[in-house]
Amino acid sequence: MNEFAVARALHVLAVVLWIGGVAFVTAVLLPAVRRHVSGPERLEFFDRIERRFAWQSRMTTLLAGISGFWMTAHFGLWPRFTQVEFWWMHAMVLVWVIFTLMLFVLEPLVLHRWLQRRNQRDPEGTFALVERLHWLLLAISLITVAGAVAGSHGGMWWG
Ligand code: HEM
Repeated sequence: MNEFAVARALHVLAVVLWIGGVAFVTAVLLPAVRRHVSGPERLEFFDRIERRFAWQSRMTTLLAGISGFWMTAHFGLWPRFTQVEFWWMHAMVLVWVIFTLMLFVLEPLVLHRWLQRRNQRDPEGTFALVERLHWLLLAISLITVAGAVAGSHGGMWWG
């Protein structure tokens, strides 16, 4: 059995469910909530739906991290982190750290209450902030996916 192929397949499955879900939330769910709900209810309605995806993405983020670090350790890929041409390895770890901090620490312990308080004071500004944050996280994740696919198949134009 080709362990690397199995680990890579698990890795990509986790990334597809995770980043694919972020794309749906950002490009479909948030605009739909903005169109059909108004005032403070808008963020509360979004939160009720997104909460279910938050749990799914906690599981897929964990699987992406475990399979990614396993491949790195098992195949001795740590030296890549000292070479700029493997920027996509750094990007993967950065995206993973940001989402892991958001999903397991910041959102449950800090952000949820802070956004709720802010939503009562400024519902429009708070919803716009949540939208911008999702577009930013989606953009860096998609750049990372494209870079990782091209990079891991030797397609980097400067590598
Ligand atoms: C702890 C964080 C992560 C580590 C250590 C990691 C590590 C790896 C490794 C070692 C590979 C195989 C590279 C190769 O074949 O040379 C890989 C592939 C890949 N990773 Fe990650 N990864 C991590 C997180 C992520 C994240 C957050 C994303 C997406 C946003 C991602 C997307 C991909 C993709 C698309 C591939 C290419 C698969 C292919 O084309 O076969 N990874 N990753």
